[in-house]
Amino acid sequence: MDDLQELSRVEARAYELDLHPLDVSSLMRTVTKRFRPQAESKHIVLDIELTPDLPPVLVDEDRAIQVLTNLTGNALQYTSENGAVTLSAKRINNEVQISVRDTGLGIPPEHLQHIFDRFYRVDKSRSRHAGGGSGIGLTIARALVEAHGGRIWAESAGIEQGSIFTFTLPIAK
Ligand SMILES: Nc1ncnc2c1ncn2[C@@H]1O[C@H](COP(=O)(O)OP(=O)(O)OP(=O)(O)O)[C@@H](O)[C@H]1O
Ligand SMILES: [Mg+2]
Repeated sequence: MDDLQELSRVEARAYELDLHPLDVSSLMRTVTKRFRPQAESKHIVLDIELTPDLPPVLVDEDRAIQVLTNLTGNALQYTSENGAVTLSAKRINNEVQISVRDTGLGIPPEHLQHIFDRFYRVDKSRSRHAGGGSGIGLTIARALVEAHGGRIWAESAGIEQGSIFTFTLPIAK
């Protein structure tokens, strides 16, 4: 299925979430394992940082992997050689906050509120040059996070200052 079809399906909620308790560290290991070759080829350090005693989250595992894959893929794509991409998680009340932080190109403040919009790219020539994308990945990620009752947002101090993408997931009670 291509990205556009996938976006339509996800936005129309034309799928069911198969919710089960999931260990956040295994979620992160699945995704970092998948991206290890790409990170190594760009000499990017890809790391996981977890606080102790993280509770499991209540998620559809495939969908949670899809969200973290989109964010980690972006982080690696929009970070130049010798940078770092870090996946981290911490509990806040009844949620776990999962962040993907990079030392990459960063996002100018005027773009931050738009990047989750469908087809939105900060710099079209830059994205194309970087072999990228159609501006759909973050829109899919937001729809999937919201389907789980979570939120997703981005922070960046600006150009060349790196970015942090964070989403929340409910803990499994
Ligand atoms: N980690 C990041 N650092 C800098 N800019 C980013 C980062 N993640 C996303 N962006 C910006 O947000 C835009 C939208 O991201 P999104 O993932 O939705 O689309 P894309 O990566 O361009 O294409 P695709 O649909 O293949 O994912 C990107 O084009 C890029 O400009
Ligand atoms: Mg993308």
